[in-house]
Amino acid sequence: MNFFHLLIILSLLLSLNFSQAPLIWPKPQSATYGTKEVIVDPTTFAIHLQGAGSTSQILQEQVQYYLGLLFPFTVVKSKVDNLDSSINLLVLNVKSDNEDLQLGVDESYNISIYSSAATADANTIYGALRALETFSQLVSYNYTTEQYTIENTPITIIDYPRFPWRGILIDTARHFLPVSAIKETIAGMAYSKFNTFHWHGVDAQSFPLYITKYPQITTNALFYKNYFYSTQDIQEIINYAKKFGIRVVLELDGPGHSASLGFGMPELTAKCPKYESNINNIPVDPTKDFTFEVLNDIWTEMSSYLLDQHIHFGGDEVVTGCWLDDPDIKQWMADHGMSTTQLEEYYWVHMNQIRDNLGKKSVVWQEVYNLQNSTILKNAMVQVWNDISNIQDIVNNGYEAINSYGWYLDKQIPGTQTHYEWIDTWIDFYNLEPYNYISTNRDKFLGGEACSWSEQVNWSSLANRLWPRAAAVAERLWSSKDTNDVSDATVRLNQQSCRLVQRGINSAPLYPGFCFVGNQ
Ligand SMILES: *[C@@H]1O[C@H](CO)[C@@H](O)[C@H](O)[C@H]1NC(C)=O
Ligand SMILES: *[C@@H]1O[C@H](CO)[C@@H](O)[C@H](O)[C@H]1NC(C)=O
Ligand SMILES: *[C@@H]1O[C@H](CO)[C@@H](O)[C@H](O)[C@H]1NC(C)=O
Ligand SMILES: *[C@@H]1O[C@H](CO)[C@@H](O)[C@H](O)[C@H]1NC(C)=O
Repeated sequence: MNFFHLLIILSLLLSLNFSQAPLIWPKPQSATYGTKEVIVDPTTFAIHLQGAGSTSQILQEQVQYYLGLLFPFTVVKSKVDNLDSSINLLVLNVKSDNEDLQLGVDESYNISIYSSAATADANTIYGALRALETFSQLVSYNYTTEQYTIENTPITIIDYPRFPWRGILIDTARHFLPVSAIKETIAGMAYSKFNTFHWHGVDAQSFPLYITKYPQITTNALFYKNYFYSTQDIQEIINYAKKFGIRVVLELDGPGHSASLGFGMPELTAKCPKYESNINNIPVDPTKDFTFEVLNDIWTEMSSYLLDQHIHFGGDEVVTGCWLDDPDIKQWMADHGMSTTQLEEYYWVHMNQIRDNLGKKSVVWQEVYNLQNSTILKNAMVQVWNDISNIQDIVNNGYEAINSYGWYLDKQIPGTQTHYEWIDTWIDFYNLEPYNYISTNRDKFLGGEACSWSEQVNWSSLANRLWPRAAAVAERLWSSKDTNDVSDATVRLNQQSCRLVQRGINSAPLYPGFCFVGNQ
């Protein structure tokens, strides 16, 4: 018997003996539960919107969406007749109809359920969406009685997120993902209360975002003729995400990882034969004003679609040696008396100008912080990925930070522990407590992201690689710091995985068992 099997047995014992709480993921900040079961009548069930928020188009649509999720199995009519006590109404009271979605939007909500009444309260429509998700997780189907029930009533839940930035990074450059796969991922994110879709849109291998002014960039950097996101696709993804309360933060990486920019416009990238055996090594050529003119045009177009204040400028793994291997760049540096570090700073000065002209805030990978230049870091948020020991220093120096260290889905041993089975790596994600690395200036730490780099992920494997492991990060970022009991989480996460499968997403199971996916 290995640790994994011991854990399962432990969890099942715990769940059999003590499980009084519904299997909600992520776990609410605070909740009280009773012991009574009430029946939910799917034939008459309705959600009534109250308050100013009831006029929101997004909220009205999402109420219909959740009505479609609540009752996945067809119920035999006779089974719901002659009920003594049942719930057929959720009253959802939403104070504001403001649909603006930005970092820090109020996602709090409360739910109370008594014998025949269910009510939920939220200040914003995005809090209301989180309430709908939790409510949907409270309704369960009993396969013996063929009835929908809510167990453990009376229920009161007071819930709000621990951190405002809770994201997943999806890489659409190493493999193309169709719009449908991205939309499915976005819905799956909302089921675990993620709120940020970090779209790592382009990279060395491909440039699948269509740029109106320079179509040759995209058409020369595709795996296949129609493997790109049209203007309409980009807008569709952004609007779809908003309906789930998910911000889209687009990343166009630079100055490194930029080879694909040069496939159609070779003048934009450095030429360095010594480094070309790894395509990830090719940076842009920052010595030409034209490079920044094109980058400005690209970001200006993208910003006309993006709704979020934040854009992601990348900045990781810049192979500056490539610049010295390009004779023209080398000459320019000599003429201007610049080192490679200074050329990198020169790049950031220009990018920050583009950002400031667009009125945006930028996010950069931690390598940009490592340049230790306050001028280029002004108004930038730092995303930590390869060295979490840096994070205290980052916030102490006054920068906002998010974390992805230890949350890389493409690493099989992401943390210090070793687990026996692949899906088991969720435990490493779950056990990574950011505050263990931050003791002062915690208010500058805003959350983090699970990262799905897709060298080995295409749309056949996307859902299975993401779920349920990424959801472990969702609970770490939403629930309280002391929500850290792995055996309690195991049972709930397996239920969450089952829920994803019931909702059409190919999540992987955590342990041997069985999951109803329809009438059977
Ligand atoms: C939820 O209940 C708490 C405690 O009564 C209250 O402070 C908070 O304002 C409520 N939140 C909402 C969104 O109604
Ligand atoms: C389903 O209902 C039966 C009969 O009331 C009950 O014994 C059983 O515990 C219920 N199952 C679940 C999973 O709640
Ligand atoms: C930071 O970068 C700017 C812009 O290149 C440069 O002028 C300044 O000297 C750099 N500061 C330090 C401390 O290197
Ligand atoms: C994903 O990759 C696998 C392995 O190469 C392949 O069998 C599968 O057809 C690919 N799926 C898609 C949708 O490209």
